Amino acid sequence: MSVKAAMTVDKDFRIGSIDERIYGSFIEHLGRAVYGGIYEPGHPDSDEQGFRRDVLELVKELQVPIIRYPGGNFVSGYNWEDSVGPQSERPTRLELAWRVLETNQFGFNEFVDWTKKANSEVMMAVNLGTRGIDDARNILEYSNHPSGTYWSDLRRKHGYEQPHGIKTWCLGNEMDGPWQIGHKTADEYGRLANETAKAMRLVDPSIELVVCGSSHLHMPTFAQWEATVLEHTYDSVDYMSLHQYYGNPQDDTPTFLARSVQMDDFIGKVISTCDYVKAKNRSKKTIQLSFDEWNVWYHSHQSDRKLDPWQIAPPQLEDVYNHEDALLVGCMLISLLKRADRVKMACMAQLVNVIAPIMTETGGAAWKQTIFYPYLHASVFGRGQALIPLIQSDKYDTKEITDVPYLESVAVHNEEQGEVTIFAVNRHLDQALQLNIDLRSFGTLSLIEHIVLEHEDLKAANTREQPHTVQPHTGGNAAVEGGAKVTAALSKASWNVIRLRMSDRA
Ligand code: AHR
Repeated sequence: MSVKAAMTVDKDFRIGSIDERIYGSFIEHLGRAVYGGIYEPGHPDSDEQGFRRDVLELVKELQVPIIRYPGGNFVSGYNWEDSVGPQSERPTRLELAWRVLETNQFGFNEFVDWTKKANSEVMMAVNLGTRGIDDARNILEYSNHPSGTYWSDLRRKHGYEQPHGIKTWCLGNEMDGPWQIGHKTADEYGRLANETAKAMRLVDPSIELVVCGSSHLHMPTFAQWEATVLEHTYDSVDYMSLHQYYGNPQDDTPTFLARSVQMDDFIGKVISTCDYVKAKNRSKKTIQLSFDEWNVWYHSHQSDRKLDPWQIAPPQLEDVYNHEDALLVGCMLISLLKRADRVKMACMAQLVNVIAPIMTETGGAAWKQTIFYPYLHASVFGRGQALIPLIQSDKYDTKEITDVPYLESVAVHNEEQGEVTIFAVNRHLDQALQLNIDLRSFGTLSLIEHIVLEHEDLKAANTREQPHTVQPHTGGNAAVEGGAKVTAALSKASWNVIRLRMSDRA
């Protein structure tokens, strides 16, 4: 016996164009993300700037279009001026967010150089925790103003003749969270964000600004926070941020895999709140969403509590991801695609070592965690138009979440390449899922490949010693029948990528 689902996809029933920036990521000055991660002078595979080439290759493979920096909680105590100029003159500071020492040997300009080598762009955050308008306008002048002023000429003196031209800026980080350095009420933050946005736009009117939403769906101030903050900032910002992490500490995998249903709900509620303020303001402008922190995070909670303070780049938040984590990450990517009409940026948090798809050994190897694979597939094959997935699926209930479809899926039409790609997760832990897909408007299709990520053991993980325990294969059983019907038996607990070519592109 197997569970069943049917899906209908039509190329004219579009959710919207996928903004490639939904495949963004995040590098924070935290743990070994920077030091021992992307930057390790003296590593045998590092380049002349101390950037690890092995890590750069893996980042490039992921085709990450934008990377948020330098935090996270870190940014709320960040003095950006400490991180530029001659390295020998940069101060070491107490870093209060994670209670470590920050040496500033890798800084703002190095990150700009690194993103160029990674074929990516910078999403820069300003400090609205301990600092404010002055700091924000100065770093923007340093970064984007051509020349002839104090800060732009300082950048030139530091060896960067051309402006960095950073387009996307975040107005602080998680300012609703009591843990945040410089935590604020919604009114305090809303006013500061608005005044900072105004000053930044006077420096460079071409920038785009992201205002902080809630740190997660269950914050007590959600969604009043979003409404109040937008009442202050509606005309001066472009995006509202969302953050969400999930874990499986009770080892309840059916509930864990259903968490993306709550993510759908979260996105829907933020859209409603943004549009409520739009209606109230009688505004023509629509605020878009930046889901700029999302992932699984819980494996490292215990070990992080035991760390002694004031170390330099100790291992922090080093979650070792297993197969079921990759399945939820796949579901979360599908959630982002299902709201491609409003989610225009998203950052898997984070990119290297810290809750990351890429792990490194300091002085040693770099390898792919399980979650690398759904992220890779979505980023590489999920470009084009997201299509509405009309799905009828068998369902299950958990104590907390009901009506969870066993099938989580979405289709993407890449018109340029003449391809349709189906991303699908079978949430059933014991049974294959019999899937019938009707793609009638696409004419005759042929199968390019059916990629499957599966493993008998939900807790199987990739490690330095065994880096290939969980990895995808192309032996999936999807078959095209009668031109535009696809059938497949999706293995239990699997992530699937069914790639189809339209016949006129044969
Ligand atoms: O990504 C790790 C941390 O999670 C970030 O610093 C913070 O913004 C969030 O709480």
